[in-house]
Amino acid sequence: MIAFLGAGKLAEAVIRGALFAGSLRADQFLVSARSPERRAELARMGWQVLDGTKRLEEANLVILGVRHFDLPTLLEQVGPALEGKLVLSLAVGVTLRHLSAALPKSRVLRALPNAPAEVREAVTLLARGAHATDEDVALAASLFTPIGRVLELSEEHLDTANAVSGAGPALVFAFFEAFLNAAEKRGLPPTIAAQAVRQTLMGAAKMVMTGTPPGELINAVATPGGSTQAGLDVLARANLEELFTEAIDAGRARAEARNVESEKNFARWL
Ligand SMILES: NC(=O)c1ccc[n+]([C@@H]2O[C@H](COP(=O)([O-])OP(=O)(O)OC[C@H]3O[C@@H](n4cnc5c(N)ncnc54)[C@H](OP(=O)(O)O)[C@@H]3O)[C@@H](O)[C@H]2O)c1
Repeated sequence: MIAFLGAGKLAEAVIRGALFAGSLRADQFLVSARSPERRAELARMGWQVLDGTKRLEEANLVILGVRHFDLPTLLEQVGPALEGKLVLSLAVGVTLRHLSAALPKSRVLRALPNAPAEVREAVTLLARGAHATDEDVALAASLFTPIGRVLELSEEHLDTANAVSGAGPALVFAFFEAFLNAAEKRGLPPTIAAQAVRQTLMGAAKMVMTGTPPGELINAVATPGGSTQAGLDVLARANLEELFTEAIDAGRARAEARNVESEKNFARWL
């Protein structure tokens, strides 16, 4: 049995992905929420809603899906019921050290899926705490594999990796929007521009997924003196690599600020 404590947007996307893939059945998980409205909504979906901590003992995996600032309150409420269990947190900004301090008798993991979980093309970053076993990691990974790719990494890289995969979809959406607006600005009818840009992004993404290094892909499509090379020369002047480096640094800095905030929020256990 899997218990989702705090079944909001992200937990719902994970559950729906696993249900769709057939790796989870409605009788294999429990959910909770804070407000009566959300609990009623979850019940209407046919999901089993927890009443306090009564049925938590059935769970062999507990997913913490609340926001980072709500986590200390939740752990005060349910901490003792999580003793001896595998506990996985979805929160950005709460470290394994914070989780282990609040749950000294649990095995802890962190997982950060990204927004394409909605279309079952997520990247889920997974970091394990000191006491989590290979079986624990495999159990957690089996929940996220139906919604995309799972990457296990050491926690020291988590904030940088999340600035790539967590923020990445929005960076790509911004690129898409700029490309689309530019195409329209030069007179393409909006429906043609939208289809041309969307299909180009998808085709290029599929070519990237072959594993061919980007430099080779570029060389294969750009001939010296040709129009593709002329466009690439313009982009080179914008120094995209520097811009992406700054974007990753900015995303990581926000996560680090949340880690500092959690030092205060978890001070009672540290
Ligand atoms: N959304 C994403 O793409 C994404 C990606 C990576 C990581 N994350 C992380 O995942 C976490 C959840 O994000 P989210 O977007 O799913 O947030 P969300 O939609 O706000 O969901 C949080 C849920 O937790 C419930 N909750 C809060 N306190 C509770 C308590 N004491 N007991 C039981 N339930 C409680 C809330 O209930 P009510 O609805 O009744 O208030 C809500 O349903 C965050 O830490 C976020 O940083 C999100």
